[in-house]
Amino acid sequence: MSLLTTDVDRAASALLRGGLVAVPTETVYGLAADASNAAAVARIFEVKGRPADHPLIVHLADPADLDEWATAPSAAARRLAETAWPGAMTIIVRKAAKVASVVTGGRDTVGLRVPAHPLARRLLSLSGVAVAAPSANRFGAVSPTTAAHVIDDIGHLLDPARDVVLDGGPCEIGLESTIVDTTTTPPQLLRVGSITVEEVETLLDDHVAAASGPARASGMLPSHYAPRCAVRLVDSPDDAIALAAGTSGAEILDLTGDLADFARRLYAELRSADERGAAVVIAVLPPATGLGVAIRDRLHKAAAPRPG
Ligand code: TXA
Ligand code: MG
Repeated sequence: MSLLTTDVDRAASALLRGGLVAVPTETVYGLAADASNAAAVARIFEVKGRPADHPLIVHLADPADLDEWATAPSAAARRLAETAWPGAMTIIVRKAAKVASVVTGGRDTVGLRVPAHPLARRLLSLSGVAVAAPSANRFGAVSPTTAAHVIDDIGHLLDPARDVVLDGGPCEIGLESTIVDTTTTPPQLLRVGSITVEEVETLLDDHVAAASGPARASGMLPSHYAPRCAVRLVDSPDDAIALAAGTSGAEILDLTGDLADFARRLYAELRSADERGAAVVIAVLPPATGLGVAIRDRLHKAAAPRPG
């Protein structure tokens, strides 16, 4: 059997049998397991090569499921669930007792999200289970925004007899969800996505703080979301041309213009630069407004010094 399918029924049965399902969401592809099946969730960490203490997001079918997965969600958590779900918003709450510690990396909090993508929603409603899912890439690499990216990254680590890659075409947003920790006062922004900090503040009618304390999200590590090639950042196309002239194996990535289009294409462009064997990608930064803030965040992480 082939890993790749568009058959949601097959994907739902794979989940219920304890298999892994790569699932399209509106942000990026996730690698999903039944959140109540600890052995299946443990395989996600194996396939991703992800440290066991890095928590996973639990994806729910319905905003009303918040109370089943959270303990005493704050007013801020309720408000975000009501106004931003389904959508590209992950809400950190105190976990309900039933949330397995393999999912949260031993934390007493859990990240919850109701995705908006129709295939993800059908998978959740057909299977009747919540799914724990990180982005469907190897740890530290850029997130997959097509089913082909998933196959390239982890296809060889999946088992076609029990796992499935559900093909929903390219992701509409192309950047990971916004993450808000609602267990602090005021709430803290752990990762910015297509929902901007200003939008979160409008939804909450309250101030949102920058993340403080130890890095709680792997997306908060200095180096993450990185392609194999080196990444250098510049502020203008002219600077890119000047830098490229003195850099061997350099390619220029100039997607400035429509920010939604930039976000949608960013990871695919970084992957194809790798495929072409580029040594260095010189990326022109978008302005730091709206979606530009999240794009700049991912580009800075791609450009950060790498461990090892
Ligand atoms: O858009 C997305 O969020 C995608 C799709 C598949 O939903 N998922 C995603 O998952 O990007 P992942 O695991 O690659 O990134 C989730 C981030 C990680 O940095 C993780 O550390 C953080 O969320 N996270 C999850 N649970 C957390 C918790 N309880 N406290 C703090 N951070 C948490
Ligand atoms: Mg990820």
